[in-house]
Amino acid sequence: MKAPTIRICTTVAWGCLALNATAAPVDFVRDVRPIFEKHCYECHGEKKQKSGLRLDVKAAALRGGDEHAPDIIAGKAKESPLMKMVLSEDKDERMPPKGEGLSATEIAMLTGWINEGAVWPDGVDVVKVKDKRDHWSFKPLNVISTLAEKPAEAGLKPKASFIDAFVIAKLKENGLAMSPPAGRVAWLRRVTFDLTGLSPTPEEADVFSKDSRADAFERVVERLLKSERYGERWAQHWLDVVRYADTHGFEVNTERPNAWPYRDYVIRAFNKDTPYDRFIREQIAGDALGEDAATGFLVTASVLLSGQIGKDAPSIRLARQDALDEIVSNIGQTFLGLSVGCARCHDHKFDPIPQRDYYAMQAFVSGVEYADREMRGGDVEARKKEAAQLVAQVRKIDDRLARFVRWRTRIRSAA
Ligand code: HEC
Ligand code: HEC
Repeated sequence: MKAPTIRICTTVAWGCLALNATAAPVDFVRDVRPIFEKHCYECHGEKKQKSGLRLDVKAAALRGGDEHAPDIIAGKAKESPLMKMVLSEDKDERMPPKGEGLSATEIAMLTGWINEGAVWPDGVDVVKVKDKRDHWSFKPLNVISTLAEKPAEAGLKPKASFIDAFVIAKLKENGLAMSPPAGRVAWLRRVTFDLTGLSPTPEEADVFSKDSRADAFERVVERLLKSERYGERWAQHWLDVVRYADTHGFEVNTERPNAWPYRDYVIRAFNKDTPYDRFIREQIAGDALGEDAATGFLVTASVLLSGQIGKDAPSIRLARQDALDEIVSNIGQTFLGLSVGCARCHDHKFDPIPQRDYYAMQAFVSGVEYADREMRGGDVEARKKEAAQLVAQVRKIDDRLARFVRWRTRIRSAA
């Protein structure tokens, strides 16, 4: 039989629950967990997490659910959403949703526990949830030292790349060996195609096949890396990564006459051997670093043009969100190697990417507009000068042409 004081509690919920809490300290494992286990795990446990709430794992429970987090506010049972829902008079809101609700004793236990600080000892959880950040792709790179430090042991010849050690190891595993080294001309063709996308000229092949110097190979590589063609070739790969195009995409695919400064920036960056961290910074914040053209990165995606967007406010807002989404997604994919775009609508199910992070990131770029503007930096001033000269030159030609036309008309009318 229940004690009378407690029975009163079920009707005048808050006033008397505090009384009860003073009785004896509540122990999580002994008093609280069995209540969660019996009434809540079915929907807030390992298999299901209704409204994103898990009550069988400390970190998850204290973090809270999708709607009311935190659901447990230590020291404040009355303000804790979890208690409000357990005590709700509204049958649609009350937890657990089925049955009569918790008994007065159970309610008193939960209330006492939260008011006493919601102490949940570490290490008592039966279920261990995997830390989503504990994934190989989120760990710093490190060199596998045995291969790098003891190249001979790994079967590497002097001067060979230590990357070969990995190849050799796999070949060995499969009972295979390295192919013989490529002939000189074959090697020259391969390295020239790799670095410039072009074949070597007959003269280059001739010179190289007769070059008996010890560093002849290195010299070829240095020559190719210095070539302007190197930047053009390798910029293509980067431009593919960031989805660069000279047209807008989408049905009509109109031209983007002013996209090229970004393309040229990328080529320049490769040819100048811009360090990767600087390369990233310039593409996200180039306007603050004197590299306006680099910020073309932000607007490489295909988006609707103003004529393609509905005139009503919701269509305009949607198009704006879509455009910003392209920027956020592109930054995530290109620089983080992560698709963050799913968090536009919900937390990622398996990666540690909440919606909160998505919109925090969106806030960084929310001032970006797809439009043309005057550029600064780079070779803009030189180009302006050149344009002015060309305009003057064209004007002269126009004048001559006009004179010629007048002259021709005169001759014709005279004839
Ligand atoms: C039969 C399934 C079921 C059981 C059992 C259940 N819940 Fe829920 N719970 C839900 C659903 C569904 C929601 C989402 C409520 C909504 O959106 O109306 C929810 C939401 C909640 C939330 C809000 C989470 C948030 O922040 O979004 C809390 C707190 C909660 N439940 C506590 C409990 C507690 C405590 C128990 C056990 C005493 C319990 N629930 C038992 C189904 C259940
Ligand atoms: C434009 C909004 C939007 C985007 C972007 C989006 N989702 Fe969803 N997703 C939803 C909606 C809406 C649901 C359905 C939710 C429901 O039924 O409760 C859903 C449900 C899911 C579910 C099932 C969830 C469950 O618990 O059963 C998975 C898995 C999922 N999405 C994965 C993804 C992935 C992966 C991406 C990115 C590639 C993604 N979503 C991008 C809106 C989106």
